[in-house]
Amino acid sequence: MEVKFRDTGAERIKTDLLVLPAMENRVEDSTLRLLDRRLGGGLSRRIKKSRFTGAEGTSLLHATGGALPAAYLLLVGMGKGEEIELDSWRKAAARARKEAGAIGAEEIALHFIPNGEPETAVGAVVEGILLASYQFNKYRSNSKPAAPVRALTLFRPGLRRSAAMERAASLAVDLGPGVYVARDLVNEPPSVTTARFLAEQAGRTCRGRGLRVEVWGKKKIQAMNLAGLLAVNRGSTEEPRFIIIRYQPPRARKKVVLIGKGITFDSGGLSLKPAKSMETMKLDMAGGAAIIGAMSRLPYLRPEIEVTGYIPTTDNLPSGSAQKPGDIIRYLNGKTVEVLNTDAEGRLILADALAYAAKQKPDCMITLATLTGACMVALGTEVAGVFGNHQPLVDDVIRSGREAGEKLWQLPLVKEYREEIKSSVADIKNVGGSYGGAITAALMLQEFVGDVSWAHLDIAGPAFAEKDTPGCPKGGTGFGVRTLLKFLASY
Ligand code: BES
Ligand code: MN
Ligand code: ZN
Repeated sequence: MEVKFRDTGAERIKTDLLVLPAMENRVEDSTLRLLDRRLGGGLSRRIKKSRFTGAEGTSLLHATGGALPAAYLLLVGMGKGEEIELDSWRKAAARARKEAGAIGAEEIALHFIPNGEPETAVGAVVEGILLASYQFNKYRSNSKPAAPVRALTLFRPGLRRSAAMERAASLAVDLGPGVYVARDLVNEPPSVTTARFLAEQAGRTCRGRGLRVEVWGKKKIQAMNLAGLLAVNRGSTEEPRFIIIRYQPPRARKKVVLIGKGITFDSGGLSLKPAKSMETMKLDMAGGAAIIGAMSRLPYLRPEIEVTGYIPTTDNLPSGSAQKPGDIIRYLNGKTVEVLNTDAEGRLILADALAYAAKQKPDCMITLATLTGACMVALGTEVAGVFGNHQPLVDDVIRSGREAGEKLWQLPLVKEYREEIKSSVADIKNVGGSYGGAITAALMLQEFVGDVSWAHLDIAGPAFAEKDTPGCPKGGTGFGVRTLLKFLASY
């Protein structure tokens, strides 16, 4: 997609779809009045009739019938806010992209009236269009892909393009496909996305310009004593993999480790889930997918940071050889964990990766995992939970999320709840009591991070959309990719 900037008014723009952000209850601003005059009052009549107020999430499409150089006008409700927030730009652009698809528009022009830094708003608009352009149609026999948006023009009388705006636009275009990579991996059926497939895709998407992928098979995993991954894999007929993605720039100031949960299907194991709960459990590698997606774009972002991604991956199935409730795992850092519920498997495989990564003393580690239903109960489907042992790191991650349009909310690592994961036979057990399940899961992970700065994102809620939105069709959302990239851009 080409992004252009123009210093001109709406009445002069020749395009397929002219997009005008409208503030709630102020829909008759000067631009709209001017356009309405050109349209012989047709626009104001439509606004009245349809009762369009500019409320957030609403829009009004109007054909110009040749009275303007643009073929269609789209008013997009921006809500009441005195200031248009960054995420409102992203959402408005996504809505415009959806309307463009419906009318077959290949060129969009948007009245660009940011109130903050124009370059961050440029990035948000481009992101919104790219996010909304995603489709997953490969398993539909009658799919009609929406026409691609070839060009986006941002315009306003007096708009001055800057190098920073140009850079923000091209960076957003370069980073966008990282989200597609993650969404695709989640959306593939679980019998396609096996551990081996995930590793192959990591290799395919992450290579060149400082990126390398190393994949450990079962033998190497045994030799390296990744006991949690082996324990969870025991129920499977598929071999596990341990995926390592390395980004090594010539001059690195810092070392960051990213660890993603890669459960390619979570049946619960012998502690079997009910059928309904299993329907979406192909999502359980979304953390790993987000790391593959984010890291695949590092050659474009080019941070001066060494980044290592670790993705332990297997499915979690019951069988005659599956691990049993009551089994004990001995980890490479010496800790022992009693497995009382085989459905609390994510923490078992993340523990290996954390223990292994912590030995390398990185500046920080971030885990991404669809870890607990309890986190969804607490925060719903839009917000990820964040935990951490170092507040500046947690703050940094939350800020990155805010800029990226991904909502994060901190939950506490309550020391007192460590009692809940004490075992009668081993050092700890893999489940706590009935309450605070997201916290006890995070507390178990903390046993393996040592004294390294660590942040943990429980993305069980936002990793998967249960229904279509303008920015994302039902399915994998790619949540985390943009937060990680924002974080790495400024760490
Ligand atoms: N993958 C699930 C968590 C999950 C649930 C993600 C719903 C997305 C949507 C995880 O492995 C799991 O099963 N967690 C259990 C833990 C429990 C057994 C302590 C849970 O949340 O019920
Ligand atoms: Mn589970
Ligand atoms: Zn799981």
